[in-house]
Amino acid sequence: MFATMGALGLAPTAEAAQRDQPFRALKPGDFTLTGRGAAKVVIVGGGIAGLASAYELGKAGYDCTVLEARDRTGGRNFTLRGGDSTTDLYGNTQTARFTDGQYMNAGPARIPQWMVTLDYCRELGVPIEVFTNVNADAYIFNQKSGMKQPERYRTAKADVYGYVSELLAKATDRGALDKELTVADRERLVEFLKDWGELGDTLTYEGGERRGYSVVPAAAGTPGVLLGDIPTASEVFASGVGRYFSFEFGFDQAMLMFQPVGGMDRIPHALTKAVGTHRIRTGAVVSDITDKGSGVAVTYTQGGRTKVIDADYCIAAMPPNILAKVQHNLGSGVQRALEAITPSSAAKIGLEYRSRWWELDHNIYGGITETDQDVTHIWHPSYGFHGERGVLIGYYNYDDDADAYAKLTPGEREKRAVAAGVKIYGEQYRTELASSFSHHWRQTPHLEAAWHDTPGGPDDPRYQPLNRPTGRVYFAGDWLSYTDAWQHGAFTSARKAVTALHARVLSS
Ligand code: ALA
Repeated sequence: MFATMGALGLAPTAEAAQRDQPFRALKPGDFTLTGRGAAKVVIVGGGIAGLASAYELGKAGYDCTVLEARDRTGGRNFTLRGGDSTTDLYGNTQTARFTDGQYMNAGPARIPQWMVTLDYCRELGVPIEVFTNVNADAYIFNQKSGMKQPERYRTAKADVYGYVSELLAKATDRGALDKELTVADRERLVEFLKDWGELGDTLTYEGGERRGYSVVPAAAGTPGVLLGDIPTASEVFASGVGRYFSFEFGFDQAMLMFQPVGGMDRIPHALTKAVGTHRIRTGAVVSDITDKGSGVAVTYTQGGRTKVIDADYCIAAMPPNILAKVQHNLGSGVQRALEAITPSSAAKIGLEYRSRWWELDHNIYGGITETDQDVTHIWHPSYGFHGERGVLIGYYNYDDDADAYAKLTPGEREKRAVAAGVKIYGEQYRTELASSFSHHWRQTPHLEAAWHDTPGGPDDPRYQPLNRPTGRVYFAGDWLSYTDAWQHGAFTSARKAVTALHARVLSS
C-alpha cells in the first residue's frame, strides 16, 4: 500500500513522521499527481480552491468543468480597477473610478514567504514584489485611549520597549527574580534589557534616537534634534499603543511579505488561463448537487436557463455558508457540518488620491497605520512609489465595524472613513481625494463572508463529513484548513481533495 501511495504521488511519509520534520516551505515539484486519470470532474466554485483543483487535476489528465456563480473567477481574491462594478446585497451599485494603473485588493492582499501561494506564483509566472506590512514611519492613533495626536510606530515602540525593559531590569536588579535566575542569568538579562530598551546606566529609560527626531541628522552642523516630550510609563501604558507590536511576530504576518505585481487577481487570472476558459462557466449559479452512486449530477442556472451537468466526481469548493443553501442528497451530517461553520464580516475602502501626500509630506512608503477608530487599519500602497497618484485602503475593518459601514451608502462610507483619516493625517486626507470604492464581503452576493469561523478547528469531529468524500463529492476551501482566510488554505485543501480523488480513480 505504501508503494502504491508513493506511486500516486501521495505524501511519501506517514503523517506522524511528517510532524517530526522541521518546517520546510513546499516547492512546485513537491506536488505532482503521478499517473494519468481519465474521470470527468465538476468543480463547484471558481475561487482559489476550485481553480487549483481544476489546475492540478487538469495536469493529470482529468476532464474538469468549473461552475462559478459570479461573472469572474477568483472568489474572494478580488482586485478592483477603474470600470469594475459591483452590486451588494443592500442594492448599492458602485463602479470604481480608479485611474490607469491604480487598483485595490478587496480580499487577500499579502502573502507570507512560507505559504504555498508563492510557489504557485512562481509556477504560474506571476511576478511578485514586497508588500510592506509593518512600517516604523506609519502612525498609531488611539483616540479612545486619550491620544491627542498620532504617533509614529517607531516612537511608540521605543517607549513601550523602553519602559518594559526598565521595569524588568529594575525588578531583576532589586532581587525580584532571584529565585528564578542565577546571578549570571540576571546579569545577562539586564545586559539584554539595557540594549533592548535603550536604557541608561541607572537602568532608566530616557528616550533616545529610536523615538525619532524633530530635525533629522544631516550634514556637519546639523546633528539633529531628538523628539521631545517623552511620556511617562503610565502615559505610555494608558495609550494602549503596545497592543500593536505582537502582530509583527505572527507566523502569518511577519515581514517580509509579498504581493503579485499589478494586483492579487493576477493569481486567479493565471490559474484561469492555465485551466482553460473553455472549462470554466461563469454566471453559473448551482442549485442542486445529487450523488447518484455511479456519478454526480449538478444543476445550475446560467443566463436564465437551468442546466444539469453529469460527472464522475464533484469537488464542492464553494463557501460553506453558500453551500449550506444548495440542495443536495449528501446527508444531514454534511448539512450540520456546513451550518456549524459561520461567516465573518470584513470590509475595505479604497481611496484614490491625486497626489501621494503620505510619501511627500509624511515620508511613509507602504505599511499600515493602526487606530482604535472604527476604520481600524489604514494601508499605504506598496506599489507605485513616487508616482503621481495612489490608492490608500482607508479602512480594513471586521465584524460590527464592517457591518456598520456596510449599512451606509457608499457616499456616507467615504465621508465617515475620510473624517477618521483627517484626524490622523490632516486635511489633505479630504482635499486630495479623487474617488473611492468600498467593498463589504458579508454583503457580497454568492460569497456572503470574508472568511469563516470553524469552531474547534477543521479537524473537529463535527467536520469529518467534509474532510472525507461523501459518496462522489469532495470538499475543498480555506475554511477546511488551519489557514482560513489565506489562499494557502485554499491551495492546500484543494491539493488534499484532488490527491484523495486521484488515488481513488487510479485504484478503481
Ligand atoms: N489573511 C487575512 C489578512 O491578511 C485575514 O488580513
